[in-house]
Amino acid sequence: MQQKNASKLRLLNIGITMTSRTSLPSWQALTEHAKEMKQQHMNDLFAADKQRFNKFSIKLPAFLLDYSKNLITADTFNQLITLAKDCDLEGWREKMLNGEHINRTEDRAVLHTALRNRSLTPMILEGENITEQVERALSKMKTFSEQVRQGKWLGYSGKRITDVVSIGVGGSNLGPQMVTEALKQYSDNSLNVHYVSNVDGTQIADVLRPLNPENVMFIISSKTFTTTETMTNARTAVKWLTSSSFDDKAVAKHFVAVSANKENAMAFGIDKDNIFDMWDWVGGRFSLWSAIGLPIALDLGFEKFLELLDGAHEIDNHFCNTKLEENAPVILALLSVWNCTFLGAQSQAILPYDQSLHMLSAYMQQAEMESNGKSVSWDGREVDYPTVPTIWGEVGINGQHAFYQYLHQSNNVVPADFIGSVESVTPVKGHHQTLIANYFAQTQALMQGVNEEQVRADLKAKGRQPDYINNVAPHKVHKGNRPTNSILMKRISPRSIGSLIALYEHKIFVQGIILQICSFDQWGVELGKSLANNIEKELESSDINDSLDSSTAGLIDFYKSNLS
Ligand code: F6P
Repeated sequence: MQQKNASKLRLLNIGITMTSRTSLPSWQALTEHAKEMKQQHMNDLFAADKQRFNKFSIKLPAFLLDYSKNLITADTFNQLITLAKDCDLEGWREKMLNGEHINRTEDRAVLHTALRNRSLTPMILEGENITEQVERALSKMKTFSEQVRQGKWLGYSGKRITDVVSIGVGGSNLGPQMVTEALKQYSDNSLNVHYVSNVDGTQIADVLRPLNPENVMFIISSKTFTTTETMTNARTAVKWLTSSSFDDKAVAKHFVAVSANKENAMAFGIDKDNIFDMWDWVGGRFSLWSAIGLPIALDLGFEKFLELLDGAHEIDNHFCNTKLEENAPVILALLSVWNCTFLGAQSQAILPYDQSLHMLSAYMQQAEMESNGKSVSWDGREVDYPTVPTIWGEVGINGQHAFYQYLHQSNNVVPADFIGSVESVTPVKGHHQTLIANYFAQTQALMQGVNEEQVRADLKAKGRQPDYINNVAPHKVHKGNRPTNSILMKRISPRSIGSLIALYEHKIFVQGIILQICSFDQWGVELGKSLANNIEKELESSDINDSLDSSTAGLIDFYKSNLS
């Protein structure tokens, strides 16, 4: 009871501003400024200022961020910084880092930065030094990953582990899988790491088919250890193992769990010693730095997992200690707010020019859309402005031959982040330069466009007849003026990937503060989950439920009557 009151107090003391952002003078000034800027073209801004790249780019150890190809002037930039200050961004950053319960609706601290606090400075949360907790958890991960990788952890029949199957979904899957894919070239292939996230049995069946149960280690990753899809896959994995071992005790040698819910994990049959900690101060989509990243450590080795944490820690330091004007995550967030909330863009593309980042846009969809895809402010009001865009994307070159037509010439402006690296980790003669030339050319084309006069002159120079020119010219016009950010790493590495992900994590935090959105809950995924449970009961029942809407009833009826 005492504890309950204390937590209520924390929630109330968090310092929630009750006024809408729209009443801030800086917000209103930006609204007016946006009307002027919509009349401007980036070509003119570049022509007027030869220093534009120098002014609007930042070099950090892990990457260059060039944001000069946005529809901004120095005035826009200063006004956005004023907005961030008016929103007390620096104060909120302190609150997050000090472990205040900024996840208000769940009354939790938000401390994923503690997971990669490589300087090992004590971080005290409710009287406990969580740096020590994290170090203990890392040490357990180190021991386990080394045992498995070195063949010292043996399965029920005394054979070494060759394959790891990680079962989890959402934040308990996307981060580790995206990083595993990104860093494939750094794996020494001691183990084969597989992921299962979908409850569609096709996925687990495909993964398990070529494997031998004697050599497989399963990791059940679930913060809550209640997620239906993960539990269903985990039960199937147990059945698959025990049907070959004929012994329930085999589970202890082939299953580990990563969870904040030890009771459920143990009730499931996982040995107490095989449970890796998670904490309620780490949100699922920010958890790859914890034992949720165990598959990464198993694949790459623990030292490389630490390098990933180092890279993230470097950005944490940058985010915490750099003034707002030179702070990369702050700038990315402000530009997103500028492009979407003030200039009206409704979606944003993530376009990696690196095959190894092929899962980045899927990862970013969860990171940004589950965090900030909301329309109610901290104090429960419907916000009166658009919040975050739809995030989508694909590796750049494949995108170029699919949807870039839309990026260049549709009547929707889609701001895009282009991400690539100077050197390829897998150099194949002649390839990387072509890839990068396309990266740079696309951002140039999206910015510059080509006007009708240029099109006509070009067609004329090619000897085209006037009729042809009149017909075709309007179709070849590219308005340009389409904003892009360019992120250029030296090369993909555990460290640079750690930095890249942390950059976006902090961007998402800043967006939430500016837009007054609770970034760390996800109530929007709960409704569908609970309805699915009800409908599963309907699918099993022979009765017809008259209280269902006619569409859902019709779907259920068609399903049941067509079951063979
Ligand atoms: O999709 C909703 C969600 O709650 C995510 O936020 C979370 O990452 C995922 O489900 C998995 O949850 P858990 O780790 O508890 O299984």
